[in-house]
Amino acid sequence: MAASTAELHDDSAHYNRLPELKSFDETKAGVKGLVDAGIAHLPRIFHIPPHLLDTRPSAPKNFTFPIIDLQGVTANQVQDPETRNQIVDQISDASSNWGFFQVLNHGIPQTVLDEMNAGVRRFHELDVEEKKQFFEREDQTKKVVYNSNFDLYTSPFANWRDTIFYNMAPDPPQPQKLPACCREILIDYSREVLKLGDLILELLSEALGLSRNHLKEMDCSNGLYVLCHYYPACPQPELTLGASKHQDNDFITVLLQDEIGGLQVLHQDCWVDVPPLPGSLVVNIGDLLQLISNDKFVSMEHRVVSKKVGPRVSVASFFTHGFSPNPRMYEPMKELLSEDNPPRYREVSAEEYTAHVFKNGNETSALLNFRL
Ligand code: OGA
Ligand code: NI
Repeated sequence: MAASTAELHDDSAHYNRLPELKSFDETKAGVKGLVDAGIAHLPRIFHIPPHLLDTRPSAPKNFTFPIIDLQGVTANQVQDPETRNQIVDQISDASSNWGFFQVLNHGIPQTVLDEMNAGVRRFHELDVEEKKQFFEREDQTKKVVYNSNFDLYTSPFANWRDTIFYNMAPDPPQPQKLPACCREILIDYSREVLKLGDLILELLSEALGLSRNHLKEMDCSNGLYVLCHYYPACPQPELTLGASKHQDNDFITVLLQDEIGGLQVLHQDCWVDVPPLPGSLVVNIGDLLQLISNDKFVSMEHRVVSKKVGPRVSVASFFTHGFSPNPRMYEPMKELLSEDNPPRYREVSAEEYTAHVFKNGNETSALLNFRL
């Protein structure tokens, strides 16, 4: 499967792509390894093929990316119902119109955010020999996986990015399975993110007119995958991307990014920068929440552009149990349906949805396959 897709691309690119992918993969040193070797020109496997160049414009300056202050609704704070209603309204607007928003005063201490950024960087900057112990290509359902481009053999071009990801819920790995250089912070950060995810799912439930615990009770925060990305400085940033355009195949994603920026969201057919805002976290709606909300909330396409500056570190926390056996089926929620709003999707399990994305790649929205 993987090989045949790579060979297909050989024809159009007029070079033998598969051996080049393999020799890059076999170094287990990732993009970081290329940069350390001092390359000035991007290997062809990273070049965006001409037919995939995205000519949509960058946004005019008058778009304001939604920023939502959660002061007053996080745990251990005095709760004011009026404040909560206002926040729910803002979340509802942003989730329907953008599928993305930034949160401030979200309750995760700055020291935890800073240490997470530093810990992820420490991992990616380990000696290759040490880092290699975590390398995995064949079985990406393992609890801890390091590699470069999870879809290296199926995507039309490789991204300028390395990643280590770990699965923290429902069954966390044994701590000794996590890299020693960042073990503690990986555990602490994911514990904090799980709490924040629950709060956001409460607010999203209310934004749908449902009871506070509705989405949690549907197991939307039952599974957590934490993707720790490292985007090295890129000598020819215009030739590639840090992350190809995609939608997230989960319920929600909570993203920590550093000050370098590069994340862009499609909004009204323009690419809009998600401005790095110190102390903030980015939240976005994933495909599964779009599906169960029957398109009330939207899972928007986004990408990461490469830059000459770097490395950029980001941490994307995916709320989904897509790799764990969980028989629960998801379909548009009955509470939201009416004669004027009939179901738009057929039912699917999180596992089936994730498997579909892994098999078919991220290039087009997997949601379309489940549309009625
Ligand atoms: C992702 C993602 C964005 C970023 O991991 O799905 O979109 O800024 N990451 O790293
Ligand atoms: Ni994403």
